[in-house]
Amino acid sequence: TAGLQIAIDGPASAGKSTVAKLVAKQLHYTYCDTGAMYRALTLAAMQAQVDLKDEAAVLAVLAKITISFKPGEPEQQVFVNEQEVTQAIRQPDVTNNVSTVAALAGVRQQLVRHQQKIAAAGSIVMDGRDIGTAVLPQAPVKIYLVASVAERAQRRYAENIRKGIDTPLTVLQHEIEVRDKKDSTRKVSPLTQAKDAVLVDTTALSIEQVVAKISAITAQKQ
Ligand code: C5P
Repeated sequence: TAGLQIAIDGPASAGKSTVAKLVAKQLHYTYCDTGAMYRALTLAAMQAQVDLKDEAAVLAVLAKITISFKPGEPEQQVFVNEQEVTQAIRQPDVTNNVSTVAALAGVRQQLVRHQQKIAAAGSIVMDGRDIGTAVLPQAPVKIYLVASVAERAQRRYAENIRKGIDTPLTVLQHEIEVRDKKDSTRKVSPLTQAKDAVLVDTTALSIEQVVAKISAITAQKQ
């Protein structure tokens, strides 16, 4: 049987991409990190030195680039045209600017269309902020992943340390709160739980427990 569409949304650093990748691996589905697309465009726009609030200017950058993914271990590689940007799009300056670019209606329209094409064949795990509400409103499996902000800041801190980025924990917590606020209050498809999404609070759960939960929910739908 053809695989399902699995939509995973939630606030920053709730563990979406970690569990989405593992669920995809377990089910032999494709994983699509939609945040990476917004990040890649943000990086390209920053490199082009355009005003990130200027929709026409950002759309002109988007028109000149192709954002693509290549399989890789431990993570998928992300490309802007021929340039590999996998690490660059996770840098703090991109992270702190991405919500500004993601709030632009024209940007969302185009990236959402791209995401819908990627997901059309099914057998996909897609994570982001608006997958269950806007990108794949018909997805049979929708998960809304949350965790306390203290726990999310702690996880981001540990992840940063592994990457050699040493932003203090209190600063990270503040950045997460600011980004969530921007993502939840924007006009176009703000971050919100879809009515038919299953709420999973990961604060006290291990990665394995979250993956098992999502796999069980998916199995019920197959
Ligand atoms: O998931 P990640 O933290 O990489 O997403 C980066 C940013 O991209 C989010 O804070 C949000 O502004 C934007 N985003 C979005 N819609 C998505 C995925 C990400 O607006 N589906």
